[in-house]
Amino acid sequence: MASSEEQFVTCSSEELLLLAPSIRVFLNEAYEGDFSDSDYENALGGRHFMIVVGGHLIAHASVVTRSISIDDTAWSVGYVEAVAVAADFRGRTFGRQIMQQVTDFCRGKYAIAMLSTGEHGFYERFGWVRLDAKTFVETANGLVRTEEDDDCLMLLSDVSDLTNARRVVALDRSENPW
Ligand SMILES: CC(C)(COP(=O)(O)OP(=O)(O)OC[C@H]1O[C@@H](n2cnc3c(N)ncnc32)[C@H](O)[C@@H]1OP(=O)(O)O)[C@@H](O)C(=O)NCCC(=O)NCCS
Repeated sequence: MASSEEQFVTCSSEELLLLAPSIRVFLNEAYEGDFSDSDYENALGGRHFMIVVGGHLIAHASVVTRSISIDDTAWSVGYVEAVAVAADFRGRTFGRQIMQQVTDFCRGKYAIAMLSTGEHGFYERFGWVRLDAKTFVETANGLVRTEEDDDCLMLLSDVSDLTNARRVVALDRSENPW
């Protein structure tokens, strides 16, 4: 019989489907059908953090490495993606537990970590701060301004003065550059 105790699982994207075959359905349900194939691709290529209860995946977040320039200095940034808790399990600290793990991982591995969210309050308790900078993506045709993402970016870093950054540029990717 499956244990009802929570298990913390971490793995690479190569191992993901083996350990969490329902990941795609899980994310789609957690985001109420608003989690595209591009969102999924954006969440792959790094480290995944999950909580499993009774054999069921109930929480997930991943961290991928992205090349991002902040005021013209290039950084290898840990970028958090696909943070989600199954609807039936919300409000029971699973979101907090998964983000604590992700935050600890980012602090240990990256000088700078970033994420994009509309739920800033959820992340502030772990030390993430809002970034008041203009966002751009680097495309084959040059820099493209992504003004609609300016308010979403958050930063985790001990590097001084970065919160005063004026310009942040990421390499373009499929959809949802940030
Ligand atoms: C956001 C989400 C991951 C939170 O998961 P959860 O398991 O309910 O979170 P917790 O139970 O650990 O709550 C932790 C704290 O964050 C608060 N919180 C939860 N959702 C929040 C939100 N959207 N904004 C601000 N605070 C939030 C809770 O009130 C709680 O505060 P408390 O400790 O003072 O009571 C979950 O609601 C979810 O999966 N939402 C859909 C997907 C999503 O929006 N992901 C994040 C997108 S960037």
